[in-house]
Amino acid sequence: MSKIAPPRTYRVKSFGCQMNVYDGERMAELLGSQGIAPAPEGEQADLVVLNTCHIREKAAEKVYSDIGRIVKDWGREDGTSPLIAVAGCVAQAEGEEIMARASSVKMVVGPQAYHRLPDMLARAVDGERVTDTDMPAETKFDALPARRKVAPSAFLTVQEGCDKFCTYCVVPYTRGAEVSRPFADLVDEAHRLVDAGAREITLLGQNVNAWTGEDGKGRPIGLEGLIRELAALPDLARIRYTTSHPTDMTDGLIEAHGEVAKLMPFLHLPVQSGSDRVLKAMNRSHTADSYLRILDRVRAVRPDIALSGDFIVGFPGETDAEFEQTLSLVDAVGYAQCFSFKYSARPGTPAADMDGQIAAAVMDERLKRLQDALNRDQLAFNRASLGKTCEVLVERKGRHEGQLLGKSPWLQSVHFTGAAAVGDLVTVELAEAGPNSIGARLV
Ligand code: 5AD
Ligand code: SF4
Repeated sequence: MSKIAPPRTYRVKSFGCQMNVYDGERMAELLGSQGIAPAPEGEQADLVVLNTCHIREKAAEKVYSDIGRIVKDWGREDGTSPLIAVAGCVAQAEGEEIMARASSVKMVVGPQAYHRLPDMLARAVDGERVTDTDMPAETKFDALPARRKVAPSAFLTVQEGCDKFCTYCVVPYTRGAEVSRPFADLVDEAHRLVDAGAREITLLGQNVNAWTGEDGKGRPIGLEGLIRELAALPDLARIRYTTSHPTDMTDGLIEAHGEVAKLMPFLHLPVQSGSDRVLKAMNRSHTADSYLRILDRVRAVRPDIALSGDFIVGFPGETDAEFEQTLSLVDAVGYAQCFSFKYSARPGTPAADMDGQIAAAVMDERLKRLQDALNRDQLAFNRASLGKTCEVLVERKGRHEGQLLGKSPWLQSVHFTGAAAVGDLVTVELAEAGPNSIGARLV
């Protein structure tokens, strides 16, 4: 075993969902607490953490090509090589293969074990190759350093894992069973985020609306209880949550959309398909109609709610007629924005072994038609917002001189020029609609 120089700089590259973004931030903080500095922009880091996503196609191949690129770009004349760690869901699912195939990888760490990175790093520096894909009983959150400086819009993971077992999805296997973090810990972390500069908190979970806990008086509460508690933080201006499952859209959570002013008028509620037969084969436990009725109820209490969803085209056995039902559902909802994907057979999931796998060309065509419809609706939603006056949370500077970028309450990207600073909540008039962003004027 040959020893490696302890890394002085790190870079964490996160792929995939927002939970990975959150995990990536926490890993960065953890490495920072070990005296390792973020590598300056454009410079190579001594330690590279690839925080991977396994949800769709070619996840592992992408990791191998990233590793190859890091090693090639390193090119330091002293003959050293960067320390590469693979984290996230590909690490969890394929850690052993990665270790066997990529000798430059020194650490493989799963999403529930990354609080042990400092110890792993010490062993890697000693020349060991270390894998930790445990799902330990102790929670990583207790072992992570407190948060110091965060962006105006911050993430807070409240729930992890999934018990829903949609037949296409790897998450229940890579992230494990549904676990809710305790109420007191979350309130504490939210306080710290606000103290560290957050004005908006997005509560994260694979099934965030399945979060349950007990409030300060020991009474059982759901996500709406947590939202109401956080809404009482004076310096916190906005609350969002993502991503949710229709089955867990409780009456209480729907009511909160009508009653909690800080809860932003935006709901990401994946539906996946408009066909009841496909939904059943996906093990989604809702129908197209029950989904639409949930949206009706949310709209009744919050008429301006912006709706978002996820779709999969080309699930095994999906017929043309069933795909048309998805398009009809899209027409019925009028989404503000959506994510849509071609079905990808994930090893180990039930759908991967189903009959009727759909040809790539058919999936391409369906995805195009779906995305055309979704883009049309997104532009229509943005156009319909013109003339509205609303608050924008300024998140960063834009590319042009004096330009600032932020989000509207409906999660639209807004750009404007004017005297304001990152972290400000400013009032603007929405003036110019593009498909992906809106130009505004300060008022
Ligand atoms: N193929 C395609 N899309 C998938 N998703 C999850 N698993 C797959 C898969 N095997 C999509 C779903 C989910 C989103 C996060 O990713 O739409 O809601
Ligand atoms: Fe995957 Fe379904 Fe769980 Fe979402 S609800 S993480 S799609 S199994």
